[in-house]
Amino acid sequence: MLSASGEYSMDEEDFRPLIELLSRTERIAILTGAGISAESGIPTFRGEEGLWKKYRAEELATPSAFSRDPKLVWEWYNWRRGLIAPVEPNQGHKILAKWEKVFPGFCLITQNIDGLHQKAGSKNIIELHGNIWKLRCVKEGTITDNRDFPLKEIPPYCPSCGELLRPHVVWFGESLNYEILHRAYGLSSSCELMFVIGTSAVVQPAASLPLMAAEVGAKVVEINPDPTPLTPYADFSFRGKAGEILPLIDKNLNRSSGA
Ligand code: APR
Repeated sequence: MLSASGEYSMDEEDFRPLIELLSRTERIAILTGAGISAESGIPTFRGEEGLWKKYRAEELATPSAFSRDPKLVWEWYNWRRGLIAPVEPNQGHKILAKWEKVFPGFCLITQNIDGLHQKAGSKNIIELHGNIWKLRCVKEGTITDNRDFPLKEIPPYCPSCGELLRPHVVWFGESLNYEILHRAYGLSSSCELMFVIGTSAVVQPAASLPLMAAEVGAKVVEINPDPTPLTPYADFSFRGKAGEILPLIDKNLNRSSGA
């Protein structure tokens, strides 16, 4: 709750209505953004020290930037892989991995390409924007896992056809994979409750998923230190960090994984 000093302080009372709701919820969807990885030390995109404050997305994260200078683009993605490789998932990631076993109809939709949800043990994940640990041949389209850091060659080439490999991520101006996007639409419009964690809710089509959920009567729960364009539409909007609020909610959850 908003305290007299304007500071948001959370006490268990604030969560009671949500806990009550969660105790009778089966189909729960989670949408995450860069904010859930912030406490693991990964910079967000639009925050204070955000990547897009320091680097020009149009020079590094577009198809034309890649065709213009694949080496520059790969140097940047190699640097980002170096940021991500040594870090561990935080409490936020871990609670969501645990909830996958607690809620029978659980699904996790992420905009993140860092692979930290998988590292925390999450299995049932939809990666809307791809994965920085996967490379794709620009000619054959084959996708391969590659966790080398640093990359052995920059830019990397396809071992079978010799063409360039690109990061298997969605760049600005590119469409999302049709099958993946429609799975996300389907899960969003069939859930009973959607958590929206650590996203500025400005990038489409991901930012529409919570509104799809709300349209079918699902409750929307936002967790973010700052308000976003989604906040007015959320049934609950908790001001705080994912790694602090999710453990508080989990502690009050009177559900077990039944394991
Ligand atoms: N816990 C929860 N939320 C946090 C935390 C935290 N510890 N720290 C920051 N945030 C919030 C910020 O307040 C901000 O609203 O996370 C949000 C991060 O927003 P962005 O940096 O815009 O990241 P995201 O919403 O994931 O960006 C969407 O844009 O750049 C593209 O493809 C990229 O997937 C990315 C997409």
